[in-house]
Amino acid sequence: MSEDTKSSGPHPNNKESLEQAAMQDNSMQDVHAQLMREKEEPHEGFSPVPIVLMFLFAALCFWGGVYLVHYSAKFRWDAYSPYFDPNADKPAPVEIPLFVRGQKVFAQQCAVCHQASGAGVPGVYPPMVGSSWVTEHPEVLARILINGLNGPIEVKGNTYNGNMPAFGPGGLNLSDKDLAGVMTYIRQEWGNEASDMTVAMVTDYQAAYASRSTPWTAPELKEGLGPVPEPEPVVEEAAEGEAAEAEEPHAEEAAH
Ligand code: HEC
Repeated sequence: MSEDTKSSGPHPNNKESLEQAAMQDNSMQDVHAQLMREKEEPHEGFSPVPIVLMFLFAALCFWGGVYLVHYSAKFRWDAYSPYFDPNADKPAPVEIPLFVRGQKVFAQQCAVCHQASGAGVPGVYPPMVGSSWVTEHPEVLARILINGLNGPIEVKGNTYNGNMPAFGPGGLNLSDKDLAGVMTYIRQEWGNEASDMTVAMVTDYQAAYASRSTPWTAPELKEGLGPVPEPEPVVEEAAEGEAAEAEEPHAEEAAH
């Protein structure tokens, strides 16, 4: 029987099983093909990060940085304390003394004529040093600076006849602070020993003389002077009061 089968070529059964096998092969390949499509072949090395992700990450870092700069409260440990005062560390704005301010103003505005030494130029620009116009009544000095000066004037025994420019609103328009500074400066520099001129005093004199449009003459300067204003313990007290107020929050903080 077995001989028969061999000689008579492929057995019908055999053929069927071959076809079946072929068919299985095909379907197997189909399945593999599907798998191949779905899964990538494993390979060595790292797959590169998509460039979009890189940009996204960079943008995120940037935003994070900006956020920290704005909302970190400088990484202060006490930032969440109910008594946190972000300005506590800042130094109080320094108010430069009028004398120091005046020194600068004098160098910029007056030294051209009256010289840095305050000695003036003989016959042309009168001296500041030891001049009674400078050191006596503050109102006289304020008048000269606000409105200027014209015509003959005797200073320390010498007569001058020139033009002193106005530094008030009608002239070079210095601020009240600068005027108070420069007047304080010339009253106290080079051995001069006169009282301070405060901003409040200058403001008062401005109110009286700012509208005057002509420069003063020496005789006019001595007319109609008001009383010499009291030098100011008042202002100092006020400043101390402010300082005490500024201290208060700290005391409060310490108490808690
Ligand atoms: C352009 C030159 C010039 C400038 C700038 C000038 N002065 Fe004078 N100053 C004069 C002259 C000139 C006189 C004399 C005026 C006269 O003869 O009537 C004078 C007179 C004075 C006097 C009265 C006389 C004395 O010597 O005491 C004072 C005070 C004075 N100047 C202060 C100042 C101050 C402060 C400044 C700066 C803010 C200043 N001057 C800027 C030219 C100038």
